[in-house]
Order: sequence, then C-alpha cells, then structure tokens
Amino acid sequence: MRIIKVKNYDEMSLNAARIICGHIALKPNCVLGLATGSTPIGTYANLVKWYKEGGVDFSETRTVNLDEYFGISPDNENSYSYFMYNHLLNHVNIKAENINIPNGMSHDTETECERYDRVLDQLGSIDLQLLGIGHNGHVGFNEPSDIFVKKTHAIELSKSTIKANSRLFNHIDEVPTRAFTMGMQSIMKSKEILLIASGQDKADIMYEALCGPITPQVPASALQLHQNVIVIGDEAALSKF
Ligand code: GLP
Repeated sequence: MRIIKVKNYDEMSLNAARIICGHIALKPNCVLGLATGSTPIGTYANLVKWYKEGGVDFSETRTVNLDEYFGISPDNENSYSYFMYNHLLNHVNIKAENINIPNGMSHDTETECERYDRVLDQLGSIDLQLLGIGHNGHVGFNEPSDIFVKKTHAIELSKSTIKANSRLFNHIDEVPTRAFTMGMQSIMKSKEILLIASGQDKADIMYEALCGPITPQVPASALQLHQNVIVIGDEAALSKF
C-alpha cells in the first residue's frame, strides 16, 4: 500500500485525477470503477477540465459504478446515476453503452444484483477502482457486517450512513434506507485501488481502516490485503499517520 499525504482537497483531487488519466492513456479501453460522494467531485472536475483541453480521451473507456440508492430514479438529483452524469459522464466523450450503474429502480433486487454481477464478469477485472470511505469504514455501500459480502447485494443502510448522507437531501426522511452495492470481492478483484479521503472527520476511520484489525466491521480494512492500493489523503484525513 502506498500512502500519499498531500496538503489539501485540491491536491488530493489533482493527484487522483492524474492517476486516472494515466490509466486511460496507457489503456484507452480500461475499466474504471467509479465512486460517488463529496470526495471525488474535485477529481471528476479535473478530468472534465482536461478532457475539454484535449488532454484525455474517454472514447474507449468503460466505467462501472460502485452503488446506487434503491427506489430513486436516475433523474432524481440525489441518485448516484444523476451524480455521475452531472459531475463527469455528461461532460466527456464516453459512449453510453460503456457506462454501468446499478438500476436503483429495479424492484426485483435479486435479478438486478445478478445482472450487475454479470456486467462485472463481462467487463473482466476492474483496472482501477476509485474509492471514498464512509465514517464507519464503508466502501461503496458495503456497511459494517459480520461477514464480507462478496457479490453485488441490496443492503439496509446503517443509521450513521443515512445521517451522513442526509446533508444532500432536503430532509433525513427522504434518504433511501436501502441501496445496491458492488460486493467486497468485486472491489478486491480490481487490479489497482485508489482510495481518496479528505478532512479531519475522516482521520479516525482512515487510521482504523488501514492500521487496525482486518474485519468486516470495518469493510475498508480489507484493503490491507490488496496488493496494489494507493491512498491519497490530505493532511487532515491522514493526520494520524
Ligand atoms: C456514500 C457512498 C460511498 C462514499 C461515502 C463517503 O455512502 N456510497 O461510496 O465513499 O458516501 O462519501 P463522502 O465522500 O461524501 O464523504
């Protein structure tokens, strides 16, 4: 694991975007695993900027998103699909057929999970998986649990995750209580993982996840077992390192 401590959010975003661009330059049809949340917004903004300047070409790039809320449609501003189109996908030359996001509107959860796992199988392994981290150590929506859930699954979100994510909704009651998420095995099968974190509020969990015991109670702790993880955090998020 390489841990890179940078000054602030902007430097984190710049470094993360450079790594993503490197992957696209070296393998134009690479499979990028993408994340949502506030943390990657600056990274995506850099990618959009560089695309507009002619510095990166997404025409062959394939993407697969980690997760999606259950029961909200892609045109709902709070859906992760909306987030991805708004922050990245609408602004670059990626082909529609190369974009993969769980369908939050599918009420047959089992079928949707199987469909998404088939998508992952067809893509082969993810070349670079971008991850943020929740305050309880969740990655994607793999919440603390007694086991690491391997495959795509529908999950009941924890109270702390609902509370943390409610900042983006008008009211906490509007936050979906369920979501689809890629499983830990699919994440861990990625050839490279890029974990980004910013802010003092992530300092405890970053230390716990990367230096504490490996346990499904802290899903991100599984990353300690991966051969090729790059962590980019700002001084605040990595203040315990
Ligand atoms: C959500 C997402 C995660 C993300 C986490 C942290 O729950 N499902 O993928 O990493 O939030 O988000 P933020 O970057 O806003 O702190």
